Amino acid sequence: MIYLDNCATTRPLKSVIDAMTTALQEDFSNPSSLHQFGYAVSKKKEAIRESIKDYFNCRSGELYFTSGGTESNNTAIRSAIENKGAGKNVVTTNIEHPSILNVIKASEMELRQVAIDETGHIAFENLMDAIDGDTVLVSLFHVNNELGSINPVEEWVPKIKAAYPTVKVHVDGVQAVGKLVVDFDAIGCDTYSFSGHKFHGPKGIGGLLVKKSVKPFIYGGGQEMGMRSGTENIPGIYGLGAAFDALKEEDIALDEAEARMDHLRAAIETIDAISINTTAPASPYILNVSLADTRGEVLLHMLEEKEIYISTSSACSSHRTGKNPVLTALGLSDNFAEGTIRLCLSRETTSEECDEFVVALKEAVETIRSIMRR
Ligand SMILES: Cc1ncc(COP(=O)(O)O)c(C=O)c1O
Repeated sequence: MIYLDNCATTRPLKSVIDAMTTALQEDFSNPSSLHQFGYAVSKKKEAIRESIKDYFNCRSGELYFTSGGTESNNTAIRSAIENKGAGKNVVTTNIEHPSILNVIKASEMELRQVAIDETGHIAFENLMDAIDGDTVLVSLFHVNNELGSINPVEEWVPKIKAAYPTVKVHVDGVQAVGKLVVDFDAIGCDTYSFSGHKFHGPKGIGGLLVKKSVKPFIYGGGQEMGMRSGTENIPGIYGLGAAFDALKEEDIALDEAEARMDHLRAAIETIDAISINTTAPASPYILNVSLADTRGEVLLHMLEEKEIYISTSSACSSHRTGKNPVLTALGLSDNFAEGTIRLCLSRETTSEECDEFVVALKEAVETIRSIMRR
């Protein structure tokens, strides 16, 4: 199997599975229980929080465990809107994940979406032009899940805060964590979200970094420092801790990731009538490409016959009907847009797998084109 759908989810590490098994088989007590068995697990949970906080350069009181990226994004946005005062609008981009866009749309706030240019990036001047004295929140992706474009949030957030000190800034870091260095203090945003299953951890666990919390996100028994009630997902937290431990051991290995991506890019560029839609600054793990006179979905199914797994657009929005708004924003013609695939690598992907994939892709492209170009 060649798995190139790592933006949708990643394979959990063996150490993650082992840690979760320990939680399920041995450390199954409720961390809120007053007895020794409960306290021991509560202590381990707090040790994991302490260790994760070092990865983000944040304080342990700023890190809340959640069920993943969607909950973290919803929580950050709803909290900001709930405390809006006289504010009226939320500024974001036109290529955010649905867990950002749909929660804003469900509110009564005016939604301002700054459009990407034809390179797939936001121009900072356009972002600043969209913010005004009525802005409650600015929500930005760190790495875009479809194109891989990076927003230089360490540079932008301090400038936004300097110009509009009361505006809250949220950063969706789901596709960045584990792949880029993330320094919560240096970014200076109010909230930052991440999700375990995107970097070889378990599904259903993630976190929200919060500079200053105001009200609880979920009311109940007062778990998570009173902010997010509900019996903790201890197997998830143990697995998440193991995924971060692996990151610390292996480092971010950015050079390695860049070399692997350069290799894939060079191989794929040998196919004619191709548009590489991912442009620097971008994650070295994501490559979005369009192949004229093909169909992305047909390519996906031809490749799956060979146990090669890719995606046409983000898995979370594959239920979408109509044109992909990201591709429309890039100004791609319908012929290219319809032949778009997304390749997402991981630390486990090898250059040999990339080569094998490109050979299979070439074959599939030739087969489709021989029919479509008749
Ligand atoms: C950028 C981005 N934000 C949020 C999410 C949602 O994360 P989760 O699957 O943990 O709910 C995803 C998932 O693909 C994503 O890519």
